[in-house]
Amino acid sequence: MNMLSRKTVKSVSSSFWMQSLVALVVFCLCHLVCGYSERDRAHDLMSRYPLIDGHNDLALQLRILHNNRLSQIDLHNVSKVATDISRLQAGHVQAQVFAVYVMCGAQQKDAVRLTLEQIDVVRRMCTEYQDFELVTSAQELKNSEMRHKIACLISVEGGHSIDSSLPTLRMLYQLGVRSMALTHTCNTPWAESSSKLYNVFQRQNNSLTEFGKAVVDEMNRLGMIVDVSHTSWDTALAVLKHSKASVIFSHSSSYSICNHSRNVPDWLLHELKKNRGLIMVNLHSKFISCRDEANISRVADHFDYIKKMIGAESIGIGGDFEGAVGFPKGLEDVSKYPALIQELLQRNWTENELADVLRRNFLRVFEEVERVRDQLSSKRPSEIQIPLEEVQNPCRLVLTPPDVKGLPSDQNSSSSAEHRSPCLLILVTVLLLSILFVTE
Ligand SMILES: *[C@@H]1O[C@H](CO)[C@@H](O)[C@H](O)[C@H]1NC(C)=O
Ligand SMILES: *[C@@H]1O[C@H](CO)[C@@H](O)[C@H](O)[C@H]1NC(C)=O
Ligand SMILES: *[C@@H]1O[C@H](CO)[C@@H](O)[C@H](O)[C@H]1NC(C)=O
Ligand SMILES: *[C@@H]1O[C@H](CO)[C@@H](O)[C@H](O)[C@H]1NC(C)=O
Ligand SMILES: [Zn+2]
Repeated sequence: MNMLSRKTVKSVSSSFWMQSLVALVVFCLCHLVCGYSERDRAHDLMSRYPLIDGHNDLALQLRILHNNRLSQIDLHNVSKVATDISRLQAGHVQAQVFAVYVMCGAQQKDAVRLTLEQIDVVRRMCTEYQDFELVTSAQELKNSEMRHKIACLISVEGGHSIDSSLPTLRMLYQLGVRSMALTHTCNTPWAESSSKLYNVFQRQNNSLTEFGKAVVDEMNRLGMIVDVSHTSWDTALAVLKHSKASVIFSHSSSYSICNHSRNVPDWLLHELKKNRGLIMVNLHSKFISCRDEANISRVADHFDYIKKMIGAESIGIGGDFEGAVGFPKGLEDVSKYPALIQELLQRNWTENELADVLRRNFLRVFEEVERVRDQLSSKRPSEIQIPLEEVQNPCRLVLTPPDVKGLPSDQNSSSSAEHRSPCLLILVTVLLLSILFVTE
């Protein structure tokens, strides 16, 4: 009896352990399988289709934190920022469009110099580190993937960087710039910003001026991607109607999900689709949830919504890391992109759609921009100049008197009088001297 009961207890306890063991094994197997179909599937997909990200402001942080002294830091591991080589690699970022951005306060001052310095720091970063490679064409971008390099593309963020000069635009192209956002938070003399932060160059119903159209034409001719993130919606619409090539929003999200003026409303998304352009979704919390905090689910809502509106072939990713403070929980730095892809897989996005979003859409647009450039190869560099009264820039040295026509009469008389008087003086002196010599 005693022995029997002890035996029963023993068998009960052993079957308990057996059940627990089975449960544990099932749990582990499930975890492995589920774990694969979620997290690992995202990593696997991203190693086959690594990300081309549309916007990163690391160069701005290098200026702010290190005054562009690259020798002070190791780009493999940089503190106080969300972007470095280790984390780009962990996040399967194969190509990064690096913004060269100068504050709007430099407009009409030293914006061009500052832009050159930012181009210099990106070029240095991308040539001094073996993990990076500076690329200037779609083919070079594709080649860099086979060499396991992180491709760097240079993009100017804000038309104030060209000081309303097409020759300056062409020289930026020569330095490797392959994209330009037409404005940042300030209007330029030729394009209107989405922001009213700076009260400069206000115009009525003239979001993209005639000179602005000439800038777009010249970018089409050069093969530079036109970026309308940061422009007003009217400017973006005018550009979409005028540009011969596809256009991008390099870092903007959906206005229907978060009604921030930097985001894109549905009617403009439809125009973008007609242009075969691209909206590269911005991850900054303010543009995702219109609040200081956001989560991955809310980010995925933007992707779902834009896909429903205009299809996955119109979508990319433009993280905006280093350009803003405050990113969604779980997407705090560039190593976290797989978490977003995992969320989209869970929402039944196909691998094909995600391969498009991750890189094929951007490559398609880049190649189309290059095709338009090739079609325009017989076109000569534009010699269009902005009318002087439209730039109103006291820093401009005027070597030749401006055209008389096209200038308001009061401005005309005063400015040309200034230029005429020394010329007149010289002429009179020369005449007097020649008379003296002749009479001698
Ligand atoms: C980066 O540097 C910090 C300290 O400077 C260190 O704690 C961390 O482990 C480093 N990370 C990598 C990936 O090297
Ligand atoms: C600008 O456009 C709006 C609406 O299209 C119109 O009401 C307004 O009169 C226009 N202003 C000018 C200066 O043309
Ligand atoms: C944006 O939406 C919020 C509510 O979601 C509303 O209170 C606010 O007025 C809207 N802003 C604009 C500019 O429409
Ligand atoms: C994510 O944030 C939204 C608000 O933007 C909220 O409604 C939702 O519950 C959050 N989801 C999770 C999983 O936290
Ligand atoms: Zn920006």
